[in-house]
Amino acid sequence: MRPVPASAGSALRNWTRHTLPSSSSQSSRLAAVSATASSPKGQRRLQTNEPNAAASSSFSSPFSGPSGHHPLHRAGNPDKHDTTKIPNFKHYASTAPEVTNRVFQYFMAGSMGLLAAAGAKNTVQDFLVNMSASADVLAMAKVEVDLAAIPEGKNVIIKWRGKPVFIRHRTEDEIKEAEAVNLSILRDPQKDEERVKKPEWLVMVGVCTHLGCVPIGEAGDFGGWFCPCHGSHYDISGRVRKGPAPLNLEIPEYDFPEDERLVIG
Ligand code: FES
Repeated sequence: MRPVPASAGSALRNWTRHTLPSSSSQSSRLAAVSATASSPKGQRRLQTNEPNAAASSSFSSPFSGPSGHHPLHRAGNPDKHDTTKIPNFKHYASTAPEVTNRVFQYFMAGSMGLLAAAGAKNTVQDFLVNMSASADVLAMAKVEVDLAAIPEGKNVIIKWRGKPVFIRHRTEDEIKEAEAVNLSILRDPQKDEERVKKPEWLVMVGVCTHLGCVPIGEAGDFGGWFCPCHGSHYDISGRVRKGPAPLNLEIPEYDFPEDERLVIG
């Protein structure tokens, strides 16, 4: 291999140095910049050089004023130009008179208020309707009984709101017997006339007042009802006479809209 002439080698080295800066020279330049930035003196030098850099930059910063100074550098100096940019909204401003605008605003506010009130009312109404009893429950709230089908001296039991109801067509003797009872001997004193609307019709909830069993009709020591669970005896007016039951049989709400028709509930 032929040796390279000395003049050619020197020309190649010069070309390489100008075209491709060496990594060592880059490192040294970075180190010099960081050293300059870290020292107060160097920071002042960088600030002084910044306008030139901004002027030569293609980036248009909203914080750069016409003089190219950074706003932070002008803080507290009212003489300097304020760089705050406020958009112009005049294109969107109404050209109508002020009274017209106010009427429109009142109309819109009123309309929105009405819509909101209507929505709130419907929501509350739906909620309340949802919470109220359904049609089948309301239908069971009242029970109508044809009294002509119940002969004298007989009991009928019907279901009302999930409970048995005793309907007794009493005889004359039973009515006299019920009215003749001395109240002083009763555990739950109550006149017979207070328990019936028509003396011949006795209507009671058929649930024992002790623990809720259903008493048996035409049984017990007093010719009325007997509860076999714990031995409570009720008379022909449904008053407790013997056993652990504390109260008389309950009388439900009922009425006679016609002579032969009974409505319970
Ligand atoms: S439930 Fe009727 S006597 Fe106890």
